[in-house]
Amino acid sequence: MKTNDATVLEEPKTDKRATEETIEPAIESRPRPTTGVREAKIYIDGKFYSETEAKVSVFDHGLLYGDGIFEGIRFYNGRVFRLEEHLERLWDSARSICLKIPMTRQGMTEALIETIRQNHLHDGYIRLLVTRGVGNLGLNPEQCKNPSVIIIAATIALYHEDFYRKGLSIVTVATRRSNPASLNPAVKSLNYLNNVMARIEANLARADEALMLNDAGNVAECTADNVFIIKDSQIFTPPITAGALRGITRSVVFDIASEFDLEVTEADFTRHDIFVADECFLTGTAAEIVPVVKVDGRLIGNGKPGPITTRIIARFREITRKTGTPIFD
Ligand SMILES: Cc1ncc(COP(=O)(O)O)c(C=O)c1O
Repeated sequence: MKTNDATVLEEPKTDKRATEETIEPAIESRPRPTTGVREAKIYIDGKFYSETEAKVSVFDHGLLYGDGIFEGIRFYNGRVFRLEEHLERLWDSARSICLKIPMTRQGMTEALIETIRQNHLHDGYIRLLVTRGVGNLGLNPEQCKNPSVIIIAATIALYHEDFYRKGLSIVTVATRRSNPASLNPAVKSLNYLNNVMARIEANLARADEALMLNDAGNVAECTADNVFIIKDSQIFTPPITAGALRGITRSVVFDIASEFDLEVTEADFTRHDIFVADECFLTGTAAEIVPVVKVDGRLIGNGKPGPITTRIIARFREITRKTGTPIFD
């Protein structure tokens, strides 16, 4: 596990596989109401607060209705990774739900970098939220005149290194990815109940992640990660229209594949295609790139992380440590 001076994360007590006694959680499911930073500073609407003082109104529609948007962003080695792409997606999410972000993109960049500085971190994770703001108990967003911007900088516990070496075991869940006609998965909204329900199913099945299908029965994504499979050295991932988020890590894999002269095809596929794939992996800002070796009880390939996945992970680690928007000049 990664550590640094500000880290107060505990080492995992076990590295047992999910198929045995325990599931080793990623940051999302770690039951600690803290950023892992000593004397953390949380940004809310232009001011910094301690963890205990950082509070939002019970009338914020982000809380009452999940009305808002967010981004999860990583910084590595003193640089924010793919910041422009994250802000682009944040602004797209805002436009889609008619939410006016109350600052410029430049102002957001400065606030985000200042938050990391205030927390004295070089490596970590940013959770950036824009909520609809305070309104009355009715759901009409016109009640909410002032959207709120919240920026939380945290240390991050990845999946245990064992997962990157041995791979995850995932299960297909009954909960379908929400239909784009009702709640478009391309919008990174504060309403994640669809994903949470899927995660509960994975937990109950004692799996590491949930594979979510769309209404057509094709693979959409996992609860917080995009899905890739490799067959005969060709890489496939579901298109955005299948109900996948336009993942930033997903797009880095496209870049790495082209460096390796490998083709990535965005195509609809089913569970069957994963069963017969040579390799499978997931991508996401929090999880980074993590191999999958088992789906619905079937081993993928030989049940070990495959050679192409392993090369992609190695290259991804190089890129993350060398590129990004500098935090400390
Ligand atoms: C539902 C969902 N899919 C995929 C991803 C992966 O996207 P990214 O690589 O931009 O983190 C995330 C995480 O942001 C997510 O929440």
